[in-house]
Amino acid sequence: MNITIKDKNFETLIEYCMIEKRTRLLGIEINVDYENRTPVFLGVLNGSFMFMADLLKEINVNCETTFVKLASYHGDVKSSGSITEELSISMNLKNRDVIIVEDIIDSGKTLDYLLKKVKALEPASVKIASLLLKPDALTVDFGEIDYVGFEIGNEFVVGYGLDYDGLGRNLKDIYRLCDR
Ligand code: IMP
Ligand code: MG
Repeated sequence: MNITIKDKNFETLIEYCMIEKRTRLLGIEINVDYENRTPVFLGVLNGSFMFMADLLKEINVNCETTFVKLASYHGDVKSSGSITEELSISMNLKNRDVIIVEDIIDSGKTLDYLLKKVKALEPASVKIASLLLKPDALTVDFGEIDYVGFEIGNEFVVGYGLDYDGLGRNLKDIYRLCDR
């Protein structure tokens, strides 16, 4: 399906039924990995709210949730690289098993910034769950990302929490920017 948001056209990239299936599998993996532990899911607002909600419904180990709000895109289709912290981490993460929940890892700068912040709080462990990963856009070496929903090309996407200039977060499927 093709949609228009403001001045740009987008086409379907990943349908919700695929997101659902993948999220269920990620949930199973996390449940096994965190058996008998009580992880803290740290969601990165705004983009991760839908993935966070769906992923958490698949989790059956005891867990807590908290959020941080970071912004890097500032209404463009390219990351600005400068990160602003609009809501900081309020939970005490010392000695906790933290799972950072991201919508997408693009250049990796946001995650790099956040990882440093989280590690400074002396958690017992930190893992990363990201719905999307753009391997060709990565500028930071994280090693292997622990839980990845889908790897996509170096393209701009909206929907399922992701926005273009604030719009499109409500869309159930994920769309990519058309070339023309
Ligand atoms: P990074 O710092 O370049 O890795 O960008 C990470 C953040 O930028 C993500 O958490 C998203 O909020 C946003 N972002 C990156 N790529 C896209 C995209 O294709 N569409 C919408 N937002 C994106
Ligand atoms: Mg984000």
